[in-house]
Amino acid sequence: MTKSIALFFTSLLCCFTGFSQLKIQHVLVENLSNPIGLDVAQPRFSWQLIADKRKNVTQTAYEILVYSAKGNVWKSGKVMSDSSVHVAYKGAPLQSGTRYTVELRAWDNTGKPSAWCEPAFFQTALFNPSDWKARWIAPGYTEDSVMRPSPYFRKEFAAKKKISSAVAYITAHGMYEAQINGKRVGDAYLTPGWTAYQKRIQYQAYDVTQMLQNGNNAIGVVLGSGWYRGIIGFTNSSNVYGKDIALLFQLDITYTDGSAESVVSDGSWKTATGAITYAEIYNGETIDARKEKKGWSAAGFNDTGWTPAKAVDYPMNVLVATYNEPVKKHEVFKPVKIFKTPKGEQVIDFGQNLVGWVVVKVKGKAGDKITLSHAEVLDKNGNVYLDNLRSAKAQNNYILKGGEKEIFEPHFTWQGFRYCQVEGYPGEITPENFEAVVLYSDMQPTGSFTTSNTMINQLQHNIKWGQLGNFLDVPTDCPQRDERLGWTGDAQAFSRTAAFNYRVDNFFAKWLKDLEADQQNGVVPFVIPNVLGAAISSAGWADVATIAPWNMYLAYGDKRLLANQYNSMKAYIESIRKTAKNDLWNTGFHFGDWLFYRPDDDNDGRAAVTDKYLIAQCFYANSTQLLINAAQVLGNTNDVTEYTALLQRIKSAFNQEYVTGNGRLVSGTQTAYVLALNFDMLPEDQRRQAAQRLADNVKSYGNHLTTGFLGTPYLCHVLTRFGFTDVAYKLLLQDTYPSWLYPVKMGATTIWERWDGQKPDSSFQTPGMNSFNHYAYGAIGDWMYRKMVGLDTYEDGVGYKHIKVQPHTGGGFTHASATLNTYYGTVSSGWKIEAGKMFMDVTIPANTTATIWLPAAGGQDITESGNPLSSELQVEGKEDGYVKVKIGSGEYHFAVNKPADAAISVNAADYAGKYKTGGGMVEMIEIVNENGKVVVKIFGNSGELEPVKDAKDTFSSADGSTVSFTRDADGRVIKIKINALGMTYEGVKQ
Ligand code: BGC
Repeated sequence: MTKSIALFFTSLLCCFTGFSQLKIQHVLVENLSNPIGLDVAQPRFSWQLIADKRKNVTQTAYEILVYSAKGNVWKSGKVMSDSSVHVAYKGAPLQSGTRYTVELRAWDNTGKPSAWCEPAFFQTALFNPSDWKARWIAPGYTEDSVMRPSPYFRKEFAAKKKISSAVAYITAHGMYEAQINGKRVGDAYLTPGWTAYQKRIQYQAYDVTQMLQNGNNAIGVVLGSGWYRGIIGFTNSSNVYGKDIALLFQLDITYTDGSAESVVSDGSWKTATGAITYAEIYNGETIDARKEKKGWSAAGFNDTGWTPAKAVDYPMNVLVATYNEPVKKHEVFKPVKIFKTPKGEQVIDFGQNLVGWVVVKVKGKAGDKITLSHAEVLDKNGNVYLDNLRSAKAQNNYILKGGEKEIFEPHFTWQGFRYCQVEGYPGEITPENFEAVVLYSDMQPTGSFTTSNTMINQLQHNIKWGQLGNFLDVPTDCPQRDERLGWTGDAQAFSRTAAFNYRVDNFFAKWLKDLEADQQNGVVPFVIPNVLGAAISSAGWADVATIAPWNMYLAYGDKRLLANQYNSMKAYIESIRKTAKNDLWNTGFHFGDWLFYRPDDDNDGRAAVTDKYLIAQCFYANSTQLLINAAQVLGNTNDVTEYTALLQRIKSAFNQEYVTGNGRLVSGTQTAYVLALNFDMLPEDQRRQAAQRLADNVKSYGNHLTTGFLGTPYLCHVLTRFGFTDVAYKLLLQDTYPSWLYPVKMGATTIWERWDGQKPDSSFQTPGMNSFNHYAYGAIGDWMYRKMVGLDTYEDGVGYKHIKVQPHTGGGFTHASATLNTYYGTVSSGWKIEAGKMFMDVTIPANTTATIWLPAAGGQDITESGNPLSSELQVEGKEDGYVKVKIGSGEYHFAVNKPADAAISVNAADYAGKYKTGGGMVEMIEIVNENGKVVVKIFGNSGELEPVKDAKDTFSSADGSTVSFTRDADGRVIKIKINALGMTYEGVKQ
């Protein structure tokens, strides 16, 4: 009673003083919420401070308590620190298979502590090989070596006492799905996931306490060939890791009396084949429901006729717990259209190119067979297009047992599709009986991005869906054809963008361990896990070894990830150093600037071919730089010295070999200039003119990009860095081939592999390589978040501890905003242009600071929440036409009265119309508003006008003409003046 009165007075006090008590939320362990099955000896804790609307909240101290059922294992005491992300456990050694509870609290800069957080927990996995009592088991019967039907395993056991807790540890050679007492264990798919199996096989841990019952219980597990022995790699090879298929299963039960028991896979298990008669990743799955063994995973099933399993001695020292989020089911799409193609195919359109499978409900006779084929696109006649799947059949077959309504979905395969062709369905195809379920790694969504331009919003949608379709346990190149491999080049290109849309640190941390496992003397194979044989480091592909860890460090501030990868990074650099002669990496095979612009009829040398060794030298330098950065962060000072010297030699070798005395690159392509500038290859005094060459090059292609996989990610970044954001916007908004918006205009719902996967006449690029779901070109997303909206992290406070907000307006956009859920909380930033004013709303989470860059001439042009900048919000300095203001956590509403960037106020509609001249050769000048672009039409020719920076109503065109407009007192455009080829024309708006 006394307590509740005290509580009442406390809350009353809070209301009167406006003080809200600090709260601790979102406690994570190793970046996961209440993880089960961690094999990390010193897990790290992260938490968020929630301070409601209070501003400038920082943490000054924390206290952590970790305990198991046996008592406390760590009492940190009050630690004076502002760390609230990745704080490592420092208590007594953790025990295997044990659940630990975490409680913590923090003090903020008012000196007051928060309440203790809601308890979070983590459960350790099996730390020692001796914790495994289970044995690998294989089917006891002779397998059909052609179709390789799925083996089913079963085991019954009796729980003798009352169960307190039970954890199942499961893995397989192949893929597995487990059941206990007739119910599926967990909601993870395609388990155990894909790793460098010869060195690392993950197992999953499941809390199955609630699935067990007193008395008799049954376990059932079905396996598929999966990546382990199924067809994988585009040479149609199988058995990459071995011919065998096998299961490892251990159920550790603790009874309420404290005693324990394990039910483990061994020779006492029974095996048989069943309903899944065929399953291959590329080809799809066949389920013959007539062969189903009803009740096979429930107690009491009659398994006479099943063969005892064979216990086999496969290595146990390769077992590792799962670090990344497993693949799970997510969105469900209903048919948006069901139709017949001109060829007579029955097709369902799900409206989105997605990755997963179709769930079918059906009622029919025993033996009725339904075949589902999957296509990303329809051809120009409207028929299903399957040629780009190459040899992948991507077909699921379901054979009915008859009787009741049946539900089918596959288990050990997936398809990339928007359209599903249905054959043999008994009865009418109706929307209620079909749905497409989307599968991807269970990454938390973190980012959102939106603008005033619907085409760009669709582009962002496509980037996101390109990621969802290809983050299936490993970052794959594509999800539909006979490939689906962890292509390193694609992954490095997209890694920074990926970290905006979803939380991908554990996803990459796991994959990078496989990269290290698959490196051969430091050399990084084309794909990870490597299923293509001998490793060759191809520039821009192999560099994922340095680029991805560094990007993860920047985005999440995870030092341990960097430390774990450090040897791999260094070994990679050393492997190049060994092959380089005189510090030039100019030998060996390289993919080069993959899929760069190559016009069909290239008489003028317009194909954008970049010297492959020039590219290699740039990436060699960049990777060395990233190694130096990592060495600095980790305090490896000797390496900093050593590699800084190497880097200087690499750059000077570059300048001698690939740059003329006047600063021209031997390859005059966009990619050459982009890489040389982005990686700081040129001496300072040559950079500006090199950037001008890049901008001129873009213009010479009619404001089109010509870059492939390697140049594209940095193209707009370089343009912005050197003051050509207007050119970057032209590229972003370009909607003819090659450009980001061309596929959008063609109806794409994902990012395409090629700039012209489908040509304007609706014919396709070569079927040999034409995926419609390939994320690499989606790398523009990084520029959209970091430059356009301007949401970034400083390197002196990585992981958004020190946030940078520097918007770059332009392109006729009137609004752009983004949010990002960081480990500290949600950062959001958005700008809006209205009546020549710029408004910026920013939210900064507690325990972080931000530097806001406002495009204004001085602090006097800026207000915050309607007030002039006060002593609290001080101008820190001016740079590049921006005023910098440093802020603490909270919500801010800035307004800039006179934005410094004139380009932002360009509204093409203001100028559109016909202008009558005084006569002569040109009688009428027409100005057209083409999707926000100002286009002049004269003499039957037309050309786009570009706003001249800082000069209102003044434009220039590619041929050097200048165009200016005059407005009346009400701001309406009334006159035009053109200077072209030494002649001047003036006209009055009609
Ligand atoms: C893949 C790519 C990959 C490339 C190598 C293709 O088949 O789909 O995305 O990076 O090969 O150049």
